[in-house]
Amino acid sequence: MPPLSRRQFAAVTAAGLVGLAHARTQAFHRALEQTGLKEVFKDDFLIGTAVDGRTVDDPSTPLAQLVAREFNAITPTNMMKWGPLEPREGEWQWAGPDRLVAFGAAHGMTVVGHTLVWHSQTPRWLFVDEQDAPVSKERLLKRIETRIQALVGRYQGRVAIWDVVNEAIDEDEKGWRQSRFLTIAGPEFVERAFRAAHEADPKATLLYNDYNEHNPGRRRFLVDVIRDYKRRGVPIHGVGFQGHVGLDYPDLAEYEKSLQAIAAEGLQVHVTELDVDVLPRASGYTGAEISTNFELSEKLNPWKTGLPPEIDEKLTARYRQLFELFLKYRETIARVSTWGTFDGESWKNNFPVRGRTNYPLLFDRELKPKAAYAALVALKHPTAR
Ligand code: G3I
Repeated sequence: MPPLSRRQFAAVTAAGLVGLAHARTQAFHRALEQTGLKEVFKDDFLIGTAVDGRTVDDPSTPLAQLVAREFNAITPTNMMKWGPLEPREGEWQWAGPDRLVAFGAAHGMTVVGHTLVWHSQTPRWLFVDEQDAPVSKERLLKRIETRIQALVGRYQGRVAIWDVVNEAIDEDEKGWRQSRFLTIAGPEFVERAFRAAHEADPKATLLYNDYNEHNPGRRRFLVDVIRDYKRRGVPIHGVGFQGHVGLDYPDLAEYEKSLQAIAAEGLQVHVTELDVDVLPRASGYTGAEISTNFELSEKLNPWKTGLPPEIDEKLTARYRQLFELFLKYRETIARVSTWGTFDGESWKNNFPVRGRTNYPLLFDRELKPKAAYAALVALKHPTAR
């Protein structure tokens, strides 16, 4: 065979390299299909999702298999909340949570308990006595402790992380949120919950979980609480940043200050409920208004049949930015969990108004990974795009 000219040689080499790169990329994607995001970020933090009861009911469904492949942490969206778990005093609905914990164990996942004390989704009986009169402080605190002993105790050693108290800080940054827990028991209910959880499972990681974590007022208040708790030996190990964000909020510089503030206190941060709302802001409108007013519906629910590429690019860029920040704080951040796995199941389709079509997660309505997913993989494997 005559020797190759320089040009031919260059062409053959280039083709070979492209072929090699292509084969590598394919091999990479095949490997990824088996191991998922949990493998991509294995040296950084746990990667989790939140699941409904039906997702773990049948491990053979495509959604259950996707969850098992991609994530190494799971949180139940509703099953462990007080209302669904104990709708009548002492009548525990363990079947769903038991299946969830077994699913997590079967797939070697870290199971997160959500949530021990929250003002929302509470059962009717909780704040009243047999005569329907407001329950006393002592009785309410006792009920909190009974729930925690039963729930944390049942899953001791199997649920490794608990969202002990959820959303107890005021929206207007004035201190604790006005809730029936607060009016009946005072702020003591928060620390009593942490102490009870620690007693029920001394090895569990205990978190305070809230949204709008970038808010400077909340940050200040929370840091004061953490310092007070540390001084008095109240067992708190980390803060859950829910991470319900949008394309253009919050300001990530403020978000970063909150990460720094928690890190400075020596506590872990868990990003507990991440999703990125892409729809126009709709607060102030009701679902009824939207469904009966065509113009309004077009304005607030504009992408019923698919997301325009330019918005998908913004979503991708937002996820990339967020994960760049998370990676920068990988020493502090122990876990990043999305709130749901695919767009079709997100609460964001029904909040703040019902019945919209939103696109906040990493998998689309057909369970396919979105461009944002590829962008996250590329953060760790820049050559594998
Ligand atoms: O189970 C009932 C069903 O029987 C009934 O037919 C149906 C009618 O609306 O409602 C069903 O209950 C719904 C439940 O989700 C289960 O799907 C409730 O109405 C609905 O309000 C509830 O929403 C949950 C929401 O918390 C409650 O505030 C969402 O699924 C859940 O994703 C969401 O999660 C919270 C976190 O716990 C805390 N942080 C904020 C986050 C988003 O709101």
